[in-house]
Amino acid sequence: MPRLVHLILALLATSFNALGSQTPLRSSVLEACLSTLPFRVVLPSSPDYDRASRAYNRRLTIRPAAVVYPNSASHVSAAILCGTRAGVPVVARSGGHSAAGYSLGGEDGSLVVDLSRLDEVKFEKEGEVVHVQTGNRLADLARALKGVGKALPHGTCPSVGVGGHAAFGGFGFASREWGLLLDRMIGAEVVLSDGRVMNASLDENADLFWAVRGSVASFGIATSYTFVTLPEPPVTTAYSYVFAGNASSAAPCLYAFQEFAATSAPPPLGMQFSVIPDLTYELFGSYTGPKKDFDVIFLPLVQECEKTSDQDSGTHAFAQEMGWEAYLVSQAGTPPRVADCFYAKSLMTAEDRPLSPGTIETFMTYLYTEGPKHRLSWFVEVDLYGGAGSAINAVPKLDTAFKHRDRLLGFHMKASSRDQRPPYPEEGYAFINGMANALRSGPESPTFGSYGSYVDPLLKQDEWRMMYYGDEIYEQLADLKRKWDPEGVFAYPQMISSTRELENGGRRVVDEL
Ligand SMILES: Cc1cc2nc3c(=O)[nH]c(=O)nc-3n(C[C@H](O)[C@H](O)[C@H](O)COP(=O)(O)OP(=O)(O)OC[C@H]3O[C@@H](n4cnc5c(N)ncnc54)[C@H](O)[C@@H]3O)c2cc1C
Ligand SMILES: *[C@@H]1O[C@H](CO)[C@@H](O)[C@H](O)[C@H]1NC(C)=O
Ligand SMILES: *[C@@H]1O[C@H](CO)[C@@H](O)[C@H](O)[C@H]1NC(C)=O
Repeated sequence: MPRLVHLILALLATSFNALGSQTPLRSSVLEACLSTLPFRVVLPSSPDYDRASRAYNRRLTIRPAAVVYPNSASHVSAAILCGTRAGVPVVARSGGHSAAGYSLGGEDGSLVVDLSRLDEVKFEKEGEVVHVQTGNRLADLARALKGVGKALPHGTCPSVGVGGHAAFGGFGFASREWGLLLDRMIGAEVVLSDGRVMNASLDENADLFWAVRGSVASFGIATSYTFVTLPEPPVTTAYSYVFAGNASSAAPCLYAFQEFAATSAPPPLGMQFSVIPDLTYELFGSYTGPKKDFDVIFLPLVQECEKTSDQDSGTHAFAQEMGWEAYLVSQAGTPPRVADCFYAKSLMTAEDRPLSPGTIETFMTYLYTEGPKHRLSWFVEVDLYGGAGSAINAVPKLDTAFKHRDRLLGFHMKASSRDQRPPYPEEGYAFINGMANALRSGPESPTFGSYGSYVDPLLKQDEWRMMYYGDEIYEQLADLKRKWDPEGVFAYPQMISSTRELENGGRRVVDEL
């Protein structure tokens, strides 16, 4: 009996191949290769496959060819070579928070190299330099830095992975003073499609290092990043001012936020304006310094917003001095999110083309009229990136493959299903697209960009190329893709393609070569 079953399966496999589908062949080559590796390999037939292949964004169900858990750079190299041999696209997963499931390949059939076992943090020069393996989460990084009295700029979600965070930016409230996480990077260890483990820095493989900072996922798997740290600031003031109102009271507050951002916000001030479904709006952020200084700088903006807000409901005001660690903990929120089910978009405005009052009015009117119609859990967060003295914008435009060195505000628009579980309601897409369209209704719209860390899988190829990278950076990246990953092993829907012309997504390149 068992022999007969084997025979039938063998015949079936042959006929699939005869029909021209290479998938069974590719996956058997891949599985044979992976079976020789001395670390954890999870295949579709494994009992823990569903768990290993679950996306943080539960809106998506993606079935990778395999998920592997290397313990070292040489393990990563061996895993990549299996993917290269089998002709299966290879992707890295650090914290797994990609909004588009790109660390699962973004579509079925990829080899996922999970880096969670690469969790070393090593200091040098009394903590001034840190080597961080990419499987660390932001919480792990912050904890290690705390131990030596150092700090780095990064986002606030503790479970986001260092690997993906520094890959496409890495923005936090300290970024206007300290830069993005990728701006603190002085070196990276990257494993290439041919299995070589390379060091990249300004001195060694400088072109690869340039591509790593903004687009590493298309070039290799980074196993470690080296950062220059900063002294932990002695005191930070965290703040939040919540206002009640309507579209015509929120619009002037956002306009005042933008004006203040462009003219009066010193680099130690991190700022966010947000709106949530109860239709309150908030000024939120931190100031790296004492509260007495913060009050002098910031209260004029609060007063400006109070002019139009509903005073009967009051302003919920909070501003408190704390140490850096307490500050990070206060930002992290409780309990840490393990999953979500969402669709989100990002639009970034140009510093030299602020939003007109009319555009802001249209945007707010959309939120206040459409928001209440939906059973969605949504928010709009408007982060300040630029303004006078912003360290993000002080970096010369082509120093890294990260495009946005001339942005003022970043709009992050996100709608989750009510309980943050699947299924994702269809109306979520329309609601978010309508929000983006309202923001794009004004004359500033052609100058907008998009933050590649808030990756949007529904952008068309010409849109994301322009909005994440722009021609100048994209064309350099395309040349470098040809040099460092000529066969397109590191492939996902929004990867850098080695050809400059538009084609239908990344996957075709792999098939053609
Ligand atoms: C709740 C939440 C809060 C967030 N807050 C912020 C914030 O405050 N500021 C901000 O800037 N961003 C923020 N983000 C966005 C976040 O920085 C990005 O989603 C980031 O890419 C996630 O990194 P990851 O390692 O967790 O994700 P992953 O899904 O593992 O990776 C994301 C992408 O990077 C690639 N990649 C990951 N590791 C490597 C590696 N080692 N080598 C090569 N490629 C790699 C993956 O293949 C994938 O394409 C937030 C996201 C979430 C979900
Ligand atoms: C990369 O740098 C590390 C640390 O300096 C060194 O030990 C290693 O040999 C280098 N690797 C290569 C391939 O040069
Ligand atoms: C909006 O709120 C303000 C402040 O409470 C109020 O004065 C104004 O009448 C409201 N406008 C509308 C259209 O409801």
